[in-house]
Amino acid sequence: MSSRKLKLGAVLIGVGGPGQHNTWLSPEIPGNASVDIQWYIARAQQAEAAKFDLVFIVDSQFITADSPNHYLSRLEPLTLLSAVAVHTHNIGLVGTITTSYNEPFNVARRLYSLDHISGGRAGWNVVTSGDAGTAGNYSRDEHYDYTTRYGRGLEHVRVAQGLWDSYESDAFPRDKDRGVFFDRTKQHPLNHKGEFFSVVGPLNLERSPQGQPVIFQAGDSEEGRDLGASIAEAIFTHAQSLEQAQKFRAEMRQRAAAKGRNPEDVLIVPGISVIIADTDEQARAKEDEILGNKNFGRALAELGRPFGWHDFTQYDLDAPFPELPEEVGNNSFRTQANAIKKLAKDNNFTLRQLVEHVLSSWRSPFVGSPLTVANEIQRWFENGGFDGINIVVSVPSEFALFTDTVLPILRARGVVRDEYEASTLRGNLGLPIPENRYTAAREHSAAAPDGQVANEREPQPALSS
Ligand SMILES: Cc1cc2nc3c(=O)[nH]c(=O)nc-3n(C[C@H](O)[C@H](O)[C@H](O)COP(=O)(O)O)c2cc1C
Repeated sequence: MSSRKLKLGAVLIGVGGPGQHNTWLSPEIPGNASVDIQWYIARAQQAEAAKFDLVFIVDSQFITADSPNHYLSRLEPLTLLSAVAVHTHNIGLVGTITTSYNEPFNVARRLYSLDHISGGRAGWNVVTSGDAGTAGNYSRDEHYDYTTRYGRGLEHVRVAQGLWDSYESDAFPRDKDRGVFFDRTKQHPLNHKGEFFSVVGPLNLERSPQGQPVIFQAGDSEEGRDLGASIAEAIFTHAQSLEQAQKFRAEMRQRAAAKGRNPEDVLIVPGISVIIADTDEQARAKEDEILGNKNFGRALAELGRPFGWHDFTQYDLDAPFPELPEEVGNNSFRTQANAIKKLAKDNNFTLRQLVEHVLSSWRSPFVGSPLTVANEIQRWFENGGFDGINIVVSVPSEFALFTDTVLPILRARGVVRDEYEASTLRGNLGLPIPENRYTAAREHSAAAPDGQVANEREPQPALSS
């Protein structure tokens, strides 16, 4: 029996995300699942009954008529998760929030409110917004360039973390006998003045049961990986093959170590789809049916998203993949856009072949009987492919196949937990509780670092288990 447990996340995407054009037709999915809070609560409870670590809510703030069904009309993550919080007890609640179109004070306050409402179960998936069009919804002509996006992202998170330390844990004695409500020496302003933000603080919310929400991060460029190595306690990514996953995990652990961090405190948690049936043949047939139902026209339109919703319908499908000007996609999902361009070039694909290739590449490495899927997940986990998995959840009975047929096998082998270890997300993920920097400074009798958020070259706040 291994002591390291596989972490489990459930990505709730209602009526279907990219490539899931017909998912919403399932009789099990209400047509309004993406805006139906009861659907989210029921899925979170289903995941909690299976001892999942967390539910994960992806997000974006720019749509076109070609956006995936779930994106067209969905609930704002922290509002949604606050409702889920009061109907669940142990499961973590991770919401995607962009650092490009938010102020850190606002984000710190909203997330910390969720952390209090849930008793210490909040997590933040830090993104910089891949959709360049988001700029137009926030009074800007253009999206930030990569250097600005990621520089702003790093400072944003550091400011939020500084604000979460505004109060030490014993700042509120609330002693009615002595008439002492709070201890003013345990409240700390931030007085941050940086390149992108000026924030005085303090935050008007006391310390939460897990100290600080858990930081997730998603972004795959050099700049994105550098940000992840600096701030992420868990990284949301893709998993194409075991070799690619091993390489990515090793790289991120090494990058974190190079920044003076403990690589054990950076969990790699890719999003995956599982397709399960009684036999491997039946599962593969099920996948073929799902792939066969995909819509070429929708896929062609969706291809535009990484390129800033570039219109690919203007090109001849049977001509070579178009040469695109450098600026197309440069400030959107650049890494993905470049990978698509390289794929087309390396294979001399026409536009049609490229779209067909993308459609078939939605095949999952985790297809088969419960035993096959359990074996494959365990193989990746034990061979350094990932620390956990984020399962994409739409159809409830398909999710139940995973929880009721695959998980028991993994549980019997000691790969996943039997019971929650803690009531906080940090506790269940085995991540350390960040010590309040002012308490730490006092205890180590160093000068309290009132004044500025630590620069990345300076030591980060001490962590304690
Ligand atoms: C696995 C993964 C999941 C992501 N999820 C989101 C998301 O939910 N919302 C969002 O705005 N951006 C999301 N992003 C986009 C990133 O924040 C980033 O803006 C984008 O990937 C482009 O940066 P990159 O070239 O560094 O990957 C995600 C990226 C990855 C790799």
